[in-house]
Amino acid sequence: MNLPPHLTIGGGHLHIGGHDCVTLAEEYGTPLYVTDEMRIIANFTRFASALKRHYPAIQVLYAAKANGNLAILRTLARQGAGADVFSAGELDLALSAGMDPRLLLFNGSSKSPVDLALAAAKGVRVSVDSIDELRQLDAAAGAAGKTVEIAFRVNPALEVPTHPKIATGLRTSKFGIPADQILDAYREALACDHVRPVGMHCHIGSQILDVLPFARAAGVMAEVARDVTDLGIKLKFLDIGGGLGIPYHRSIDVAPTPEEYADAVMPVFLEAINRCGITPELWVEPGRYLVGDSTVLLTAVNSVKQSHKTFVNVDAGFNLLARPVLYDAWHEVVVANRADAKPAGEYTVTGPICETGDIIASDRRLPAVKAGDLIAVLDAGAYGFSMSSQYNSRPRCPEVLVNGARAALMRRGETVGDLTGTMQTPPWQE
Ligand code: LLP
Repeated sequence: MNLPPHLTIGGGHLHIGGHDCVTLAEEYGTPLYVTDEMRIIANFTRFASALKRHYPAIQVLYAAKANGNLAILRTLARQGAGADVFSAGELDLALSAGMDPRLLLFNGSSKSPVDLALAAAKGVRVSVDSIDELRQLDAAAGAAGKTVEIAFRVNPALEVPTHPKIATGLRTSKFGIPADQILDAYREALACDHVRPVGMHCHIGSQILDVLPFARAAGVMAEVARDVTDLGIKLKFLDIGGGLGIPYHRSIDVAPTPEEYADAVMPVFLEAINRCGITPELWVEPGRYLVGDSTVLLTAVNSVKQSHKTFVNVDAGFNLLARPVLYDAWHEVVVANRADAKPAGEYTVTGPICETGDIIASDRRLPAVKAGDLIAVLDAGAYGFSMSSQYNSRPRCPEVLVNGARAALMRRGETVGDLTGTMQTPPWQE
């Protein structure tokens, strides 16, 4: 298996950012998410530089949904990132992390009146997803005495090679405004009093391992940009979304590099803006690429059972990492306390949740596993903790951040008290 440079093996143990996973698990308990801050910074730098080689005015908007821990948002804010925020909660987190409101884009296909009022009050730009929403935003901005700068989200009607649940630019997707309505939307925005159209947005999907769809989407945006420019609108930014995939299947997947991504997308973008005679910023919204490989989920083996298969029953399930059950996603697993031992059999790693689908990894060749061993689930940084739940009334686990020799909690583990803390007794049960 190809390990990324921040994951190493020493003394038979897996290390992350130089920290022994076995020691971390002893100190903080399991299950435990551990993230290497330096890896996030390295991923950010590589991604941004790859694009900046072609064009200087690049702005990275981290997709906060991938991992919304404040510490991670702070790390990225300090690198100059803004954020793609998809809820009032993500907006609050991004601002709390010190991000510039002008570098946030409030996205989403179903924003509430409260969301729209909040966007207006905080001075963040909004990716408007329907003409209905445009009218509501105009009214909300008017009520707040503000003018809100907006983009429209374009539906590019593109098939992309990824799991159907995370392809977002299909003709049939709920996101974006169809090409045949998009100019009407911009026209109507021009006529609004409290909304100013200054951008264009698109996001075609996630975990895409081919650069061609990104170039195609940029091509669709280029065409719309020309028509929008002809309407007399001066585009300040074009936002091509996120979606670059990572090689979860570490011995098989070949993921495009950020340089390959940039080489595919940038010529289309540059050609388009030259043709329009404009110099907008290019905004990109990577989530997974920045944080996906930065994190391992450490989970202890409770028991091993020889049944139809050999089941390794661990203490983290789809309550903490939902990607396998939701998308049949592959995550590599390593026996962290015997990381250099040869495979001795085939194991299926299953969580503690009361559903048959609670499988972290099926039929993996691993060293002999026994109770008390520690399993590391790799590439758990994106859509791991952020999609976790308290199902089966399991408090969520802590998250640790490491940076060089330092390690610290960036979220404490929940307790059963946290589960009951928000519950209330209806008066007739008193
Ligand atoms: N921009 C928008 C508008 C998005 O909706 C998303 C992701 C991104 C950017 C970031 O995409 P990324 O670069 O991370 O691929 N839970 C799924 C992924 C859902 C992605 C949702 N939107 C998973 O675990 O694979």
